[in-house]
Parts: sequence; structure tokens; C-alpha cells
Amino acid sequence: MNTSRRTFLKTSATALLGFPAVLRAQNLNSKLQIVGVGCDGKGFSDLSEIGSHARAQFVGFCDVDSNRFTKIDQKFPGVPRFADFRQMFSKLGTGVDAVVVSTPDHMHAAIAMEAMRQGKHVYCQKPLAHSVWEARQLRLQAAKSRVRTQMGNQIHSASEYRTGVKLIREGVIGKILAVHSWQRNSGNGHTKLSAPPASAPVPESLNWDLWLGVAPQRDFAPDVYHPFKWRDWQEFGAGTMGDFGCHILDPVFTALGLGSPVSVRADNEGLNAHTWPSAETIQYVFPGTKYTAGSTLPVTWYDGGRLPNPALAKLPPGVELAKAGSIFIGEGGVLMQPHVAMPQLFPIEKFSGFTIEKQPASNHYHAWVDAALTGTETSDNFEYAGPLTEAVLLGNVATRIPGVKLEWDSAAMRLPGHPEAERFLRRSYREGWTIQAVG
Ligand SMILES: NC(=O)c1ccc[n+]([C@@H]2O[C@H](COP(=O)([O-])OP(=O)(O)OC[C@H]3O[C@@H](n4cnc5c(N)ncnc54)[C@H](O)[C@@H]3O)[C@@H](O)[C@H]2O)c1
Repeated sequence: MNTSRRTFLKTSATALLGFPAVLRAQNLNSKLQIVGVGCDGKGFSDLSEIGSHARAQFVGFCDVDSNRFTKIDQKFPGVPRFADFRQMFSKLGTGVDAVVVSTPDHMHAAIAMEAMRQGKHVYCQKPLAHSVWEARQLRLQAAKSRVRTQMGNQIHSASEYRTGVKLIREGVIGKILAVHSWQRNSGNGHTKLSAPPASAPVPESLNWDLWLGVAPQRDFAPDVYHPFKWRDWQEFGAGTMGDFGCHILDPVFTALGLGSPVSVRADNEGLNAHTWPSAETIQYVFPGTKYTAGSTLPVTWYDGGRLPNPALAKLPPGVELAKAGSIFIGEGGVLMQPHVAMPQLFPIEKFSGFTIEKQPASNHYHAWVDAALTGTETSDNFEYAGPLTEAVLLGNVATRIPGVKLEWDSAAMRLPGHPEAERFLRRSYREGWTIQAVG
């Protein structure tokens, strides 16, 4: 037995308490055997980062578009390729320990759920899921399968966000009265469409049926769905809130220890039956925590060019609100956390002698590989990322019923008195693609 294998088994033996027995059965060499689903776009960067871990080994790559393997093939040659993740799981079976999910949002839950049901560790892109119900099921399944998980909002582990979180937790601006967060992008800014365009022939490289997956049948059209522009469409993406909420609200959740909101209300412009609104404001109320001034905390989200009142930030002349980010309004000052840059403290006179100590980054990708190999825990696991994603996607439920304050009964997953909103908590699945609730 070589040293690395001996070390692995020794590490495993000490870490196995509370760790899935399935890992022992599956992989007794020293490397984590990983498959990637979605190999270009963000998938290429996820797989490149994860593959740079000395104990990561790819055993399968899956993409529904055969043209999208080019870069990953060059970087990691000789790895078997698949179009359908279900066939890949079935063919490779217990030879797979862990799965990286980097597909469009509408497929995250179907792939991650199947992986966890089979006892595999999961790294899944943000937002964790496409509906509130799916985010809840993923959290429950991760706990049930006792696998190691990480959401792909990698900035969670970046120096800039960790620094802001530490300052808030240390009380540098006192207890928090309110938070305002924004991203200037528009919810249908990639296509600017409000209805599906005329159909066109499907490119030979693309399996359109597999790309649609859980979503209802619709005709292919070029340059509006695959790649990247699916974000604008309600059936596939989650608008600007889904694209950036899990990034920008992450330091808000981590710093303040937030969980489920008690209510949400949204208004917007440009809503139609197909794409996300061009601009919106979403107002949450969360239960207070030990870091907040009151028994409740208002958190307001703005996108599509809407912004908080800059006067709230107490910015000095010549300083503007960041392109995207948050302002934490504290009893003793304001912290602006840009997305992604170092936090700033205001009013400037009050904090002129204060030195912000930069916190080190941690490797978001390697932390997940380490957790899967040794049984340590990740900080962005589904226990944390599930409720964050639920809150983000609850905002998208509110945006579909503009101007109505929705009380959220998180335990029952109900919006009492608003059945018209409740139907958006969960999507319908195309025949053959139903996701079963965690039993
Ligand atoms: N964390 C970040 O900073 C960050 C940045 C960009 C995107 N993302 C997230 O990454 C995910 C992918 O976004 P993107 O911009 O790369 O999209 P994209 O459309 O550019 O790429 C998606 C890739 O997945 C493939 N794919 C689509 N459906 C598939 C399926 N069912 N099975 C296998 N492969 C499939 C596509 O062919 C393509 O190669 C999204 O969830 C997005 O929100 C995260």
C-alpha cells in the first residue's frame, strides 16, 4: 500500500463518524472520483478550479452540446464523455464519489437530487435550485444522505466578503437597522424579449430535449436560450435576483445569521408571462438576530437600475454607490460591501483612523474536495445555502404577484391567504422528469 493511500485510509477512519458509509465502499484509492455536468461557461471554470486539487480526479464529463467539450477535453484529456447525466450515473455507478453541477438553473435540482440519492457529494452552482420547493428538497436530501455539499457562489470564500462579514460581526457599525442590496442588471437584459421567438433548426451538436429536461416542451431558437441567455426566461433562469441574489445577499446572510424571512413584497416593471421583469424592488422582513437592532430586520433588493437612496449610505462627496453590492445601516455607521471589492465604512470622518484588516480568502472549490475526502464541513453547504436560495427565490415568487405583502410560513411552506402566489413555490415537471419529495 502506498503512502498516500495509507494516509487516506487513516484520515478516513478518524473522520468516518457521521460520514456516509457509502464513501468507504465507493472509493478506496486516494483520490476523489468526480464527474462534471455542464462543461463550458461557468462549468469550465468550476471544473478547472476543482481539478487543480491534487486529490481530485475526473472520471466523466457530461454536456448536452458536444461542441462544449472542447476546452475541458484540452485541459483534462481522455475523460469519458456523456450527453445524459442519468446515463453517466448509471454507467459509472459506484465509481463516482462526487458531482459538480454547472448547468442552467432549471436543471440543478434534478441532477443534484439524483446524485445525492446515490450517495454522491455535490458542488452545485447558484442559485441552488429553480424553485423554493426544490431548494428545500435539496437541503433535506443532503442531510438525509449525509454527503458533503457546497453552493457555487465562490465569492462567499473571497477575502472581500469575509472582511465585510467580520467587521459586521465585530460590531464596528453597531447593531444593524436595515440592509439595502442592489445589482444594476435587468432581468431580461440579455434578450430583451417578452415572448419566445420563432423556432429554428436545432444545431447538430445540441440535444435540445435533454437541454429542456424538466421544463415544458418548446421549440429551439438560436441566441436566446442556449448558451447563457436562458437566464432571462422564467422557465429556465431566475432573472437578476436568481443570478446575483445568492452572491450579493450571501454576506448579509452570513454576517447577520439570517434564515427564513417572515414576509416579502415586490413591485416591478416589465413583467410578462415569459421573461423576468426589467427592474424590480423586493422588500423582505427577517426575524432579528443578535446582530440586529430590532426584533425584525428589513432587507431591500433593487435591480434593473433601481437603487437605494444614496443618502442612506452617508457617502462623502465624489463617492458613489458601488455598481452592485449592499449597504448595512448600523446604529453607529454604514458599511458598504461592493460586489466584489473591499468594504468601506461611512461617515468617512468617523472611521478615518480605522484600519480595515483584510481577511484571507479560502479556496471555495478545494474546501469541498477536502470535505468530501476527510469528512470536514464546508461553510456554504446546503444547510446554509438552502435557506439563502429559498429567500432569493421567494423574492421571485413575490415579483409575480406585485404589490402584495406575502407572509411566509417557512415550516409549512405556505403563503397563507395567497394561493395565487403559492403556485409559484413549486414548478411543474415535464413527463419523465418529476422530482420526488424527500421521504
Ligand atoms: N458562480 C458564478 O460566479 C457563476 C457565474 C456564471 C454562471 N454561474 C452559474 O453557472 C451555471 C451555468 O451558467 P453558464 O453561464 O455557464 O451557462 P451556459 O449556458 O453558458 O453553460 C451551461 C453549460 O451546461 C451545458 N448544459 C446545459 N444543460 C445541460 C444538461 N442538462 N446536462 C449537461 N450539460 C448541460 C451547456 O451545454 C453548457 O455547456 C448557472 O447555474 C449559473 O447561474 C455562476
